[in-house]
Amino acid sequence: MIERDFIPKSYSKTIKRGSFTWSSPSNIALVKYWGKKEHQIPENPSISFTLNNCKTVTKLSFSKKETNDDFSFDVFLDDEKKDDFKPKIETFFKRIVIYLPFLKDFNFRIETSNTFPHSSGIASSASGMSALALCLMSIEREFNQSISDEFFIKKASFLARLGSGSACRSLEGDLVVWGKHEEIEGSSDLFGVKYPYEVHGNFKNYQDTILLVDKGEKQVSSTVGHNLMHGHPFAQERFKQANQNLSNLISILKEGDLDTFIALVESEALTLHAMMMSSMPYFILMKPNTLEIINKIWKFRQNTDSKVCFTLDAGANVHVLYPENEAETVLKFIKNELVAYCQNGHYICDKIGFGAKQL
Ligand code: PMV
Repeated sequence: MIERDFIPKSYSKTIKRGSFTWSSPSNIALVKYWGKKEHQIPENPSISFTLNNCKTVTKLSFSKKETNDDFSFDVFLDDEKKDDFKPKIETFFKRIVIYLPFLKDFNFRIETSNTFPHSSGIASSASGMSALALCLMSIEREFNQSISDEFFIKKASFLARLGSGSACRSLEGDLVVWGKHEEIEGSSDLFGVKYPYEVHGNFKNYQDTILLVDKGEKQVSSTVGHNLMHGHPFAQERFKQANQNLSNLISILKEGDLDTFIALVESEALTLHAMMMSSMPYFILMKPNTLEIINKIWKFRQNTDSKVCFTLDAGANVHVLYPENEAETVLKFIKNELVAYCQNGHYICDKIGFGAKQL
């Protein structure tokens, strides 16, 4: 499919008002997306676990307005008006209005809440943008009821991508690939797709405990970070490596080879941060406690036969990943040895989930 396929033919129906509510999860990348071209096209393919508990719930209410010269919307987080969210949504609307021509015809009220604390350092852009994209697709489906479920999800992912790249991996499926990869059938730069191949039972109910090391706002936005990959001395090698890692992951996921999985996932996390540290300007998002945790995990692995490992987002928090059969022992280890490095002792227990839901 190409971009043009997402531009609708004119609608024949008229709609006055309504509302839709969707709940959409966050996701954590195993092979990371870092670097983009114009129009939110990724420089390399990525793959993520969908989370189960970290979600955004968004209710979108709409009523027809008199004129259609501009966007009109208000945003509320936990019932509180949030004008500082408006610029990001305005940019999103501008990018997608060509694909959803009704956007200027309505007054919108966007009411949103997260199941995780807002100031937790957990990015809500993936879950937030995907939930909003789904609500907008529900409106489009009012205009055109012949839209298939498959197209609905694809276009929601396509739109979510234009809000925040990684958001396109938060729609459907436990493992989601975004970005064209030769060996992954159906993969596309335009939207995320469910990982189409066999996945070993070792990855069933895979656990992710998120250690909240630093709950502050990110010092560097991911937009700035992505842009620093333009002209980055290691960029081309990094993009090649991500492609290769995704190829390697196909057999790892099939065979359930956890040792190789660990090596690949941890290397991806550290490479992401290495790209930040070697860009110009350079920056460090890890904190001393991030490193303390990583070292403790390595030591624990050395002393036991645990398959626990870590990954990182564009921040200081640590995602501790482990198989379901180690849930008890690793949680004990986390409580005894890692919680001390979390801000106010805070962490979130999550696991692999299956995608968004209409409420
Ligand atoms: O979706 P963005 O533009 O906020 O980028 C997020 C990038 C990482 O979270 C660092 C990696 C990824 O693939 O999710």
